[in-house]
Amino acid sequence: MNSLLASLRKSASRKALTHIKPGMIVGLGSGSTIADSFLPLFVEEASDVMHNVFFIPSSRQIEFKALEMGLKILSFNQIDHVNVTIDSADFIERKTLIAIKGGGGAFLMEKVLSSVSDELILIADENKLVEKIQPGVLIPVEVPSDFVILIKKRLEKALGVNVRIRTGSGKVGPVITDLGNAIIDVPLPEDYSLEQLDGLLKSIPGVLENGIFKDLVSRAYVGTGGGVLELERGRTALYEY
Ligand code: 5RP
Repeated sequence: MNSLLASLRKSASRKALTHIKPGMIVGLGSGSTIADSFLPLFVEEASDVMHNVFFIPSSRQIEFKALEMGLKILSFNQIDHVNVTIDSADFIERKTLIAIKGGGGAFLMEKVLSSVSDELILIADENKLVEKIQPGVLIPVEVPSDFVILIKKRLEKALGVNVRIRTGSGKVGPVITDLGNAIIDVPLPEDYSLEQLDGLLKSIPGVLENGIFKDLVSRAYVGTGGGVLELERGRTALYEY
């Protein structure tokens, strides 16, 4: 990561830190922003609350990282409620705070976390901020491997676009998520809104979750060259520096 990107993510992370108070249960999204910017900053700058906060990680990546840093973690089955989740995204729509997540393949756990969190706060660098999610943007869909080719064909027929089973590096063949499933990346078709695609995906038995986060994000801190942009759902920008 270049140093400019690192500093944008760090300044956004510093804003998110202010939402973490002693005694809280905090959800953690996955990916490089959380692993390489937010968590190191938390350890450096929030040592006073560090031993009095429990984290729920959304992937093995973040679970291992948090354990290596000496943080306290809990699993999903030990909690019924999360005070705040800190996460990032691949794209964030500036006005609606609709986010597309799942570049790191952890969106199923991230969505479950957001659904039990009082607040979902995103941190990002300005490259993630868009006015509108455009056709062609890849929407990840998590599917059990047993149905993946069946559902791939069904999606192609319904949407009229080519979709791809995600493959990765470090292993031949498909990416298998931490929950043991496959991922199909679906380009947003020209004639579909995100709401329509979300509705279609939810109507297909066997589709576990997709990477459209609508009406879930409460706030976003976006690091820009001019400072941190603070966005709140349902309101215009709170502060623009
Ligand atoms: C993982 C995610 C990540 O938040 C998203 O892919 C952004 O990752 P990064 O911080 O590496 O840019 O949704 O499922």
